[in-house]
Amino acid sequence: MELLVAIGEAFDAPRMIPVNRAHAASSGQEGDLYFVEILAKGNASCKVTTTTNPIADFEYFQQYVTKEPDEASVAWRTKNYYKQIGAVMSLSCIPYLAENIPEYGEHVAFSESSATPYVNSVIGALTNRESIQTALAAGVLGETPEYGMHLKENRKGTALVRVEAELSDGFSYSLLGQYVGKKIASGIPVFTGIPKRPRIDQYINLCAMLNVTGAIAMFHIPGITVEAKTEEEAFGGDKPKETITVTERELRQTQDELQTATGPVSVVILGCPHYNLDQMADLAKLVKGKKVRGGMTFWVNTSATTKLMADRAGHTKTIQDSGAQVIVDTCIDMFCWNNLRDRTGMTDSPKCAYYRRFGPVKVGTMEECVAAAME
Ligand code: F3S
Repeated sequence: MELLVAIGEAFDAPRMIPVNRAHAASSGQEGDLYFVEILAKGNASCKVTTTTNPIADFEYFQQYVTKEPDEASVAWRTKNYYKQIGAVMSLSCIPYLAENIPEYGEHVAFSESSATPYVNSVIGALTNRESIQTALAAGVLGETPEYGMHLKENRKGTALVRVEAELSDGFSYSLLGQYVGKKIASGIPVFTGIPKRPRIDQYINLCAMLNVTGAIAMFHIPGITVEAKTEEEAFGGDKPKETITVTERELRQTQDELQTATGPVSVVILGCPHYNLDQMADLAKLVKGKKVRGGMTFWVNTSATTKLMADRAGHTKTIQDSGAQVIVDTCIDMFCWNNLRDRTGMTDSPKCAYYRRFGPVKVGTMEECVAAAME
């Protein structure tokens, strides 16, 4: 409560308000362990549904536990403390699709790059950009200070983004988020020129990158996202503070800036953010009948819930038959990928490229990643 009250005072919040759910972007690293251990040892428990981010897959974790004892033990202890205080062990960065779904107008406390903008923009629930600690404190107390995105007047657009590029796949939405986040840094972008409703994975990619290269908690796509039917409504009658235009050129430049490798790759990582069921289906279709080249490592990260559905649909088997490996509960930001750090990698995720545990990196579409890794 002291932590949340101090945050509230810093932002001139008039009062605390109830939240019904929280998502702690648990990381299994030292700062995370420090705070959750205090809560667990003080016999705290989560008052409202509180989901957790990827930490480490148990089996994969055990393979590395002897090789990386310090980091492994921090991650393992963190995971156990979260369980002890009654957090939901979703171990996924897309909990808003299955394990912890807010509803329109609901006040929540969601940390994690894609989660905050998705919850605000696509669902129309209300959350600030929380840290692991503030989200977890809100989950334990069932309260959060009323400031920022919890107030309607702060949810108006600030920047007009004219999209003149063709957004044909999930990767192009990642590049759009990467570019716009970097360009405007903060505020609320209002996108025009997006002709049809993005797919869920396209929304996720846009959200993740807006909130990685920028500190962006929300956006509007007038007529598509829930809080604005028109451009005028999105800006709440105000004029945009800035206007930017994004063409194919900006997207290609963004892709070029992310690449540090040329030539062949020896590791491919997909699923950052965790792949959803549509992406697992797309990938299964792409790899059917193909084989991962010799010497190549191919990982696909997803949530346990998504994998269960992918198992039932046969997607997991198709992907595994190609020689790719499907892993749940973990994330590219975890130590268990350190063994890849001398290898040249490829990913369809600018965020994964940023956190890469491998050496030089290439980025491209899911199709390009599969073409680079399989014959
Ligand atoms: Fe998710 Fe980890 Fe990527 S939390 S977005 S898989 S860096």
